[in-house]
Amino acid sequence: MKKSVLAVLALLFAVAPLQAQDVPHSIAGLRGEATLGGDTMPPPIARTEDSASRRVRNYPEQPPTIPHEIDGYQVTRNANKCLSCHARARTQESGAPMVSITHFMDRDGQFLAAISPRRYFCNQCHVTQQRIDPAVANGFVDIDSLLAAERDKE
Ligand code: HEC
Ligand code: HEC
Repeated sequence: MKKSVLAVLALLFAVAPLQAQDVPHSIAGLRGEATLGGDTMPPPIARTEDSASRRVRNYPEQPPTIPHEIDGYQVTRNANKCLSCHARARTQESGAPMVSITHFMDRDGQFLAAISPRRYFCNQCHVTQQRIDPAVANGFVDIDSLLAAERDKE
């Protein structure tokens, strides 16, 4: 069994480069028909959503998406532009929602006086949105729809 798997693998490695040259179209992936070394025309960069309303979360624990542009908002060791609006002390002036209480918790569940280091780099979890055709379809179904479907079945 093991031997035959090895044999197939060896064959694959031996044949793959040949195939790439002979029939490049058969390996077209998301980037289109270009060969590995070739260039494709990338789609234009879409505009970032910039709205005053907050997007519905897909589930309660989801980091909410950023509804506004963040061009030029620096987040480094020395400065955090996001906190200039979202920090507890800044929200009255900025009208921004305060970072939630979980952002003050360390990994042991202790509440700190300031933002926890593990919540400092906002863009690790929060992302802006663009209106584009996704390259890969998404079959996510909201829990409310699932529950409604269950209820309808009964
Ligand atoms: C100039 C002030 C300002 C700055 C700077 C700012 N925000 Fe905001 N943010 C807002 C306001 C105001 C809202 C409420 C919605 C709106 O008006 O766009 C908001 C909304 C959000 C939300 C949505 C919250 C929810 O519950 O849906 C997230 C997430 C967010 N911002 C993350 C960030 C991150 C990350 C940065 C830094 C890269 C940042 N913001 C920088 C003002 C700001
Ligand atoms: C490790 C992931 C992570 C990081 C880093 C992080 N967040 Fe969040 N954020 C979340 C999650 C998850 C939620 C939703 C659940 C919750 O409130 O904890 C959230 C919620 C929020 C909300 C909505 C609060 C509310 O009550 O509606 C705001 C605003 C926000 N984050 C801003 C920020 C800003 C600004 C930073 C950077 C200083 C940041 N977050 C860093 C994961 C993160």
